[in-house]
Amino acid sequence: MPPTILKIGGSVLTEKTDTPTPKPSAIKRCAAEIASYHPSADNPLILIHGAGSFGHPQAKKHDSPDGFTNSGIIEIHRSVTLLNELVINALIKNNVPAATVHPFGCTVAEDARISEMHTAPIALMLARGIVPVLHGDVVMDRTLGASIISGDQIVPYLAALFGASRIGFGTAVDGVIADGRVVPEITPGTFEAVRSHIHGSEGTDVTGGMLGKVRELLGIDIDSYIFSAVKPGMIAGFLSGEEPGTRITKKPQSISLRK
Ligand code: IPE
Repeated sequence: MPPTILKIGGSVLTEKTDTPTPKPSAIKRCAAEIASYHPSADNPLILIHGAGSFGHPQAKKHDSPDGFTNSGIIEIHRSVTLLNELVINALIKNNVPAATVHPFGCTVAEDARISEMHTAPIALMLARGIVPVLHGDVVMDRTLGASIISGDQIVPYLAALFGASRIGFGTAVDGVIADGRVVPEITPGTFEAVRSHIHGSEGTDVTGGMLGKVRELLGIDIDSYIFSAVKPGMIAGFLSGEEPGTRITKKPQSISLRK
């Protein structure tokens, strides 16, 4: 049974502050929506979450031309681990059989790209109906010493490896926004045209992040949806088969207007 892969962005789960600040009610709601899907061996789910204020400020603080120091690596990893703990606790409270797979312990990068990941435990968890929960993390890197691997990079890696059925990105925005409107569908053929119309109202980081996501997703053969996970019910809707927000696909379909 191919798994569904869901990433929830750090901006959904945390406040955009310089110190780690969770959004407890959002974490609780997301967990309840995931529980409504009843993940199991017949309904396998891989969950990935971002780092938000538990990762980005720390990574920025320790960034230097010489790379991360050991204490920097450990501080970044420890910090994202704390957010992961909150997410896992919320899932368990909702009876989701969730278990953490920290990328730091099973991944090697080369020049800030995943070069290997020990995924055998993930396959065995899925076969038993356990939900593996990964997250954006700092990982050891053969070229750079250590580097930041975003959840956005982990998603297509695991999706290709496990032949995922669908991919969802729950974000703080309604989808890919071009000229103020949600773009219903992006294909390799339309990306260049849409790209120049994507203006981030929240600054270049957000735009870069969104373009980066789309680029990662266009590289694989699996349909993905970028949608709002801030709006209640959207995660549950995606998991139950709805097609929210922007669809990224290699197979263009007749375009219908999306919510
Ligand atoms: C970032 O992961 C990881 C670190 C900064 C340690 P993501 O890029 O997936 O996190 P969000 O979703 O943007 O917060």
